[in-house]
Amino acid sequence: MKKTTVSVFAKRKAAGEKLVMCTAYDAPFAAAVLDAGIDIMLVGDSVGTTLLGYSSTIPVTMDDMVRHTQAVRRGAPEAFLVGDMPFMSYQASLEEGIRNAGRLIKEGGADAVKLEGGAEYAELTGKLVRSGIPVMGHIGLMPQSVNVLGGYKVQGRTDEAAAQLIADAKALEAAGAFCIVLECVPENAAKAVTENLTIPTIGIGCGRYCSGQVQVLHDLLGLLDFKPKHAGRYAEVGQIVREALRNYCEDVKAGTFPREENIFTK
Ligand code: KIV
Repeated sequence: MKKTTVSVFAKRKAAGEKLVMCTAYDAPFAAAVLDAGIDIMLVGDSVGTTLLGYSSTIPVTMDDMVRHTQAVRRGAPEAFLVGDMPFMSYQASLEEGIRNAGRLIKEGGADAVKLEGGAEYAELTGKLVRSGIPVMGHIGLMPQSVNVLGGYKVQGRTDEAAAQLIADAKALEAAGAFCIVLECVPENAAKAVTENLTIPTIGIGCGRYCSGQVQVLHDLLGLLDFKPKHAGRYAEVGQIVREALRNYCEDVKAGTFPREENIFTK
């Protein structure tokens, strides 16, 4: 399979082709995501809530992100892979941001990095791009700022807030970002942001008019009980897992496992 590169995304937006993005955190699921034909694989810092048992993404570290990005890369060598910059890996200084982004590329095997923040991160975005690191922006609801936002709330609801989103998106585009994730923004505001850019927007909880959609793998598959309003549920894998484990437990207790085919006789 021919590997996707950053240069194709704006062309696909211009051609009206929707982009599909999904998270992955480990090798087996990365292989499944790649097989499905998904355009962009994101090792999101949502690994904190999906796999690591945290209640937010705040505790996720650079080492967590490097480890999971490496695993995803091993499972999907041909994927276009984006690694998320976790909280406090780029906020303190430009230098720290550049070094940590470099780790996701060099150690993790990512093709690009994603970072949360608007115009205030345009300078870092420009420096990363000029250093050879493609950047995906992320504005709207930024989960790393949950303590400032006072919860996971829809953003860009007023005219001023929507105008600020457009200004942030344009600043990131001018700095060289190849794509922008928009999270939890009213559909009209997300449409306006998308129409004001040449680069694509990838929406989650932003309605129908973004250039593409992103979903968290565990939401799509029903692996967790929690179901956000914006999540598309395409399977109830969590229920299948629970039932399989209950059956195993019952079989061992009843003496019906191991079965004939599981036994070595010589
Ligand atoms: O961490 C993540 O999974 C994300 C997506 C929701 C875009 O940032």
